[in-house]
Amino acid sequence: MKVCCIGAGYVGGPTCAVMALKCPDIVITLVDKSSERIAQWNSDKLPIYEPGLDEVVKKCRNVNLFFSTDIETAIKEADLIFISVNTPTKTCGNGKGRAADLKYVESAARMIAEIAQSNKIVVEKSTVPVRAAESIMHILRANQKPGIHYDILSNPEFLAEGTAINDLLNADRVLIGGEETTEGHEAVAKLSWIYEHWIPKQNILTTNTWSSELSKLAANAFLAQRISSINSLSAVCEATGADVSEVARAVGLDSRIGSKFLQASVGFGGSCFQKDILNLIYICENLNLPEVAAYWQQVIDMNDYQKRRFSQKIIESLFNTVSDKRIAILGFAFKKNTGDTRETAAITVCQTLLEEGAKLDIYDPKVEPEQIIDDLTHPSVTESPENVKKAVQIHSDPYSAVRATHALVICTEWDEFVDLDFQRIYQSMMKPAYIFDGRKILDHERLHQIGFHVQTIGKKYQRSGLLRSWGIVPQL
Ligand code: UDX
Ligand code: UDX
Ligand code: ADP
Repeated sequence: MKVCCIGAGYVGGPTCAVMALKCPDIVITLVDKSSERIAQWNSDKLPIYEPGLDEVVKKCRNVNLFFSTDIETAIKEADLIFISVNTPTKTCGNGKGRAADLKYVESAARMIAEIAQSNKIVVEKSTVPVRAAESIMHILRANQKPGIHYDILSNPEFLAEGTAINDLLNADRVLIGGEETTEGHEAVAKLSWIYEHWIPKQNILTTNTWSSELSKLAANAFLAQRISSINSLSAVCEATGADVSEVARAVGLDSRIGSKFLQASVGFGGSCFQKDILNLIYICENLNLPEVAAYWQQVIDMNDYQKRRFSQKIIESLFNTVSDKRIAILGFAFKKNTGDTRETAAITVCQTLLEEGAKLDIYDPKVEPEQIIDDLTHPSVTESPENVKKAVQIHSDPYSAVRATHALVICTEWDEFVDLDFQRIYQSMMKPAYIFDGRKILDHERLHQIGFHVQTIGKKYQRSGLLRSWGIVPQL
């Protein structure tokens, strides 16, 4: 079997690499319209950072995994084509800021229609709104050449960045949605056969196309909702003296609820959660289900509130002014073990501090400096990119980032931050020295002993430092 994947990004890249590793009998060609991206995939420095990806790519590249810009040949030769192009939120027109922009999916479908000379199974792998497979089908069938048959499947990807290789190797489930016809069932069986190379058959779920598409949006909405729920409680904890970690543990031990995704934080980021929920909201509005739309909107509103609340807390703690104060930002990626900054909470925190006149010293172990500058000078973030460039310094070492700063802000939970020499950091900072731990990863008691003023999410503090949750009377 020959497989082609259109779109060599965060989804297409790791997915095809693992597929190639587990299916030596299948030849996979990953194509992208960006020749720069393809050149990176063919080089020693891959375009995305993902633990374990390098090894897998090195093992399979030019054996049964090929990276190419020759989209035409790859489509012509393939029996099965994955579409894993980006589906950003629309920035203009009808559905602006909410609906998914399907222009890249559409252009991929049109390309297939134009080039294909034999039957194809076309698999939608990008996260796209319910009924997107139907749009792909319309385009393909309206442009069908005689004797060519298309089957369209939905096969959403559930991998999370930073753990993509493990998620792909040990997927909880693989979901395949197809048409309820004989040909549809055969196409589902062919795609299932690929996954059966390494996923137990009972973990491969087949549904109709729409259920499959909705399940992807629903899974991301549920995960994000858990984070917003615990983050909402973190505000209650800070106001009362409860400790959100203790609450999360107690709640999560109920087997009906479970312990995962209850980590209170500065707010969720990433390319999927917000985009998918906005999508769900847009669909609900179009289906005239305003109550459902409003319900899911709250998950996003709570996340925005959390990001704002954390940023405000920094300003308030620093005597209500950060103008001309140096502040170190440790971590810029939306989570650890990735260099991805899409929708990262760090952008909101930096934006707020910059608007208040702060000078920022930013360090992230994996995010490229140009990416940080691009994000902070984007028109949606600032009207004066030149001022931002003057106020921001990017560091390649955390100790140089914190030197002579008034405060240190943890925005990403990188493991290396836990083991920093905080005694040394304290000595090099301005006094009083503040730490704002937006990820709850540090040993706050110890930091307090060193002399830091510590603030974190979901636990109440007094000026003098940390207050244990059992040590104070809630002021209700
Ligand atoms: C609940 C809590 O489960 C329990 O831990 C707490 O101590 C008291 O409140 P209870 O109200 O007795 O217990 O029943 P529960 O099984 O939780 O069901 C509550 C309601 O939710 C019922 O009307 C039930 O039909 C409904 N429900 C439950 C659903 O509609 N869907 C579900 O998936 C589960
Ligand atoms: C998510 C889904 O997990 C994945 O299944 C889907 O395919 C794509 O979207 P991803 O965005 O890569 O994956 O990362 P995820 O681990 O889900 O984290 C998303 C955001 O939530 C991050 O900013 C993370 O820091 C935050 N988060 C996660 C919390 O704040 N608390 C938690 O308990 C978990
Ligand atoms: P995701 O996180 O969904 O994988 P990315 O932005 O990382 O999104 O990757 C999507 C990739 O798809 C990009 O590298 C982009 O260049 C590529 N792409 C978009 N449209 C097309 C197209 N019509 N043909 C080929 N590649 C495309």
